[in-house]
Amino acid sequence: MKELTYFNGEFVEPGAKVISIDDRGYLFGDAVYEVVRVVNGRCFALSYHQDRLYRSMREMDIPVKMTPDDLMELHEILIEQSEIKDGYIYVQISRGVAPRRHAYDRSKLEPQMLMSIRTLDMEEVAKLGEGVKAISLPDERWGHVDIKTTNLIPNILAQTKAEKKFAYTAILFRDDICTEGATSNVFAVKDGILYTHPADHRILKGITRQMIITRIAPSLGITLIEKEFDSEFVKNADELFFTDTIGGVIPIIKLDKDAVSGGTPGVITLRLREGLEKLMEEGLA
Ligand code: PDD
Repeated sequence: MKELTYFNGEFVEPGAKVISIDDRGYLFGDAVYEVVRVVNGRCFALSYHQDRLYRSMREMDIPVKMTPDDLMELHEILIEQSEIKDGYIYVQISRGVAPRRHAYDRSKLEPQMLMSIRTLDMEEVAKLGEGVKAISLPDERWGHVDIKTTNLIPNILAQTKAEKKFAYTAILFRDDICTEGATSNVFAVKDGILYTHPADHRILKGITRQMIITRIAPSLGITLIEKEFDSEFVKNADELFFTDTIGGVIPIIKLDKDAVSGGTPGVITLRLREGLEKLMEEGLA
């Protein structure tokens, strides 16, 4: 088993110095990315991630140089050559390399593609099922966080603040509305009904979130409502959880100073976590 890194058509050593200092991804965070889970040696929900990646590129006006089939094949090659069974693949496409100037000239830029495959500590992932602590922070991001760009300054600052307080991550609030987590989506359960922020420009339309909404919750007969809710609603929720590609469904057992669902993972949360794990075992293209 070997972690691999691939840059612009060839394998390079992990951490290799191959990126130009004039790369706009480096200078401006002018790049888009995806994180895909590898489960039992197969990508989970790769077509969903690819759809989102191509949408991000369209929204950012970054030209697409690779067909979905070729990109899919690259994922397979990385898995095959690395022999990694449980891990994740990171894909990043920057706008290209040019002397630093804010405006870009699309015709003079060649997008730069980075991919890497890494292992995951599955014990750590399993431990997330026992629940995590979260803190509340203001959502200070720009108005289009539905586009998955590498320009993540407010996210990394929020995440660092959370970790300094020994929390797993932060729940973000914009004008008192719960948007999402610093690196994940947020769901609340109240009186047996599941709530999450609508997929508009204020949140990233998470793939795990999509799995919960379109597959797992319906299969368990759990009603779901996509609507905005405030900090008061969060405080009074019966259960809270995060979703993301790495951790799946992550129960929140403490928010700021208060215990959530009695300080243990909620029953509905755990059913959803189990349902997602089952789907991941079965596999999804
Ligand atoms: N983060 N919201 C934000 C801000 C995120 O960064 C992520 C994922 C999600 C969940 O999306 P998905 O279910 O597709 O992973 C929501 C990834 C894992 C990251 O940046 O590493």
